[in-house]
Amino acid sequence: MDTPYYRPRRLRRTEALRSMVRETRLSPVDFIYPLFVCPGKNVRKEIGSMPGNFNLSVDLLVEECRAVQALGIPAVLLFGLPPEKDEVGSDAYAEHGIVQQAVRAIKAALPSLLVITDLCLCEYTSHGHCGQLRDGDVANDETLKLLAKAAVAQAKAGADIIAPSDMMDGRVRAIRQALDAVHFENISILSYAAKYASGFYGPFREAADSAPKFGDRRSYQMDPANQREAIREVTLDIEEGADIIMVKPAMPYLDVVYRVKTEFDLPVAAYQVSGEYSALVAAHRNGWLERDRTILESLTCIKRAGADMIITYFAKDAAVLLR
Ligand code: PBG
Repeated sequence: MDTPYYRPRRLRRTEALRSMVRETRLSPVDFIYPLFVCPGKNVRKEIGSMPGNFNLSVDLLVEECRAVQALGIPAVLLFGLPPEKDEVGSDAYAEHGIVQQAVRAIKAALPSLLVITDLCLCEYTSHGHCGQLRDGDVANDETLKLLAKAAVAQAKAGADIIAPSDMMDGRVRAIRQALDAVHFENISILSYAAKYASGFYGPFREAADSAPKFGDRRSYQMDPANQREAIREVTLDIEEGADIIMVKPAMPYLDVVYRVKTEFDLPVAAYQVSGEYSALVAAHRNGWLERDRTILESLTCIKRAGADMIITYFAKDAAVLLR
């Protein structure tokens, strides 16, 4: 028998060899940690559908952010649970809205931690949809005005990066123009550019109390079956002024992450969403999957596919494992 000219197993023989030829390395600086802020003081309420994640009042949120930064994670992504909801999501753009309060407190205590604010109305509207309603559907252009107001309110509070997740057409332009008009030209936009209407957001709806009261989000979020449409969505957001483009969810959409990374030259973010997290945690708890190994594997693979940064509920766990 001929000896094979090249034997791939030679470089897999020891951990030192494997480590030397490893193509993808994870680091805490790859991660963005999502957090949910709620009204009150000293509140730390575990989210049943997302074990290990909490609704935190501003005071405890700041402490959590301190711990996140100490682990070497550079950024948090904030979601707000307002004290009251209404038809037009007023708390999202109120000067002292829940997220605006949180941003001010974090920035006062931890000025170098990057604060990214999720920008969407679904957590703030009584009907749970991502914008203002007209004839039973979300009215695109009316919603743009509210999103622009919310972006300015978040920037005024001190947010470093605004992350619109609503999937209205033209929102990046509307937000960019509104920010620039009040001299926030240095505030970045991380757009949820290719955001799919995914069943994997299930656990999040409890975390942010944002389930739509009727219907679903398929008239504004993307059809999971489409890949080329993601290219169109990303192209539009870049033309409108996005600085970072996101694909969401991550694991079931790695082909989209890869394509977006290959076809565009902006930094790419991928969001390992609540359902990806909770499914893994459930399997860990049942002893069906090895916890540490599958956490790091899932994140490594998202990075390998092309993500420059990963939004993940495992950020802290992974940072500890990487120490
Ligand atoms: C707001 C928003 C959602 C998520 C992030 N921003 C919910 C949705 O679009 O239904 C989901 C995040 C997750 O599942 O972890 N629109």
